[in-house]
Amino acid sequence: MVTDANIRKSGVTHHLEEILAQAGIICTVYDKTTPNPTTDLVEAAREVYLLENCQAIIGFGGGSSIDCAKAVGARIARPRKSLAKMKGILRVMRNLPLLIAIPTTAGTGSETTLAAVITDSHTRHKYPINDFPLIPAYAVLDPEVTRGLPPFVTATTGLDALTHAVEAYIGNSTTEDTRHDALTAVKLIFGNLKRAYDNGNDMEARRNMLQAAYFAGSAFTKSYVGYVHAIAHSLGGRYNTPHGLANAVLLPHVLRAYGKTAWKKLHILGMAAGVSTPHDTHQAGAEKFIRAIEGLMEQMQIPRTIRGIRGRDIPMLAKYAAKEANPLYPVPKLMTAKQLEKFYWMIKEAHK
Ligand SMILES: NC(=O)c1ccc[n+]([C@@H]2O[C@H](COP(=O)([O-])OP(=O)(O)OC[C@H]3O[C@@H](n4cnc5c(N)ncnc54)[C@H](O)[C@@H]3O)[C@@H](O)[C@H]2O)c1
Ligand SMILES: [Fe+2]
Repeated sequence: MVTDANIRKSGVTHHLEEILAQAGIICTVYDKTTPNPTTDLVEAAREVYLLENCQAIIGFGGGSSIDCAKAVGARIARPRKSLAKMKGILRVMRNLPLLIAIPTTAGTGSETTLAAVITDSHTRHKYPINDFPLIPAYAVLDPEVTRGLPPFVTATTGLDALTHAVEAYIGNSTTEDTRHDALTAVKLIFGNLKRAYDNGNDMEARRNMLQAAYFAGSAFTKSYVGYVHAIAHSLGGRYNTPHGLANAVLLPHVLRAYGKTAWKKLHILGMAAGVSTPHDTHQAGAEKFIRAIEGLMEQMQIPRTIRGIRGRDIPMLAKYAAKEANPLYPVPKLMTAKQLEKFYWMIKEAHK
């Protein structure tokens, strides 16, 4: 079982550990995962797997634990190939050991996606590995394990799920199914995220948020994400910025920058969210949707800037983001690394 110390301490893994013991299944726990999991952590967990002769992997936690579990599986399947060599798409190409995901945040959708996002311990470059064998064989959506998720993490991870749905929907590579999943996710998030934030014990809202994160994951695993994610990954790698927070702060800026190429789709998303009407022009409907996202962020006290971004890092981070997105992400409008730099300046907290 791959998890993190916080989650283990909170007791949510206890029940499963007990059931496994009763069934005579030996479960070794690796609980040293951290947010933005690194290549070194994956190697440490892999050593435990080999030492204990494990035969299956359970990722129990947020996206960080599930991604760490996936990356361990990839390294078991590919003992001679480094994670760096698996970066990008279709570079694992071997079956992993049985992989089960139990998300404790309603955010990443990693329990259904083909991605694992890993940070290089030495360069701090954060990159996605995308391949079909990384899709877990089973996903367990149990709202009980998200009950204790603190309000701020509930908010930011929920905004990560929203970003998946929006980026998948407005991209140029959608299908009827991914559009449907994205719209369902947006509807559920606007109906339930604030409720889960206000009252973590609202199990209906928690259940709906887990569903939303899953649908959003299903949408983006086939239709990809966009510049919000590419930029957020560069910040998570360099500064350890929490993934959902980075996405949330960037989302309104990037959506506005897409301009009229995205208006029609954002208008439709606005109607799914219940904030735009069919009578709006596409431009007005899109703007209402973006404002509704900003309103939701404000109600949940998500800041508008990110601490710690250094001006001198920006050209390199923008290069990472441009490279991650082009040609992989079917964004509505292509931007160069130079053009992406402005987003870092927009969200950079001014020095006090
Ligand atoms: N594989 C994918 O498809 C995919 C998609 C999006 C993001 N990601 C990646 O996932 C990572 C982010 O995952 P995340 O947003 O779920 O956060 P996380 O796993 O990093 O967890 C955030 C914090 O919340 C705590 N936490 C988690 N569940 C809890 C619970 N039930 N109760 C109390 N505390 C809890 C954790 O201990 C941690 O401190 C990033 O590295 C991101 O790049 C992956
Ligand atoms: Fe994400």
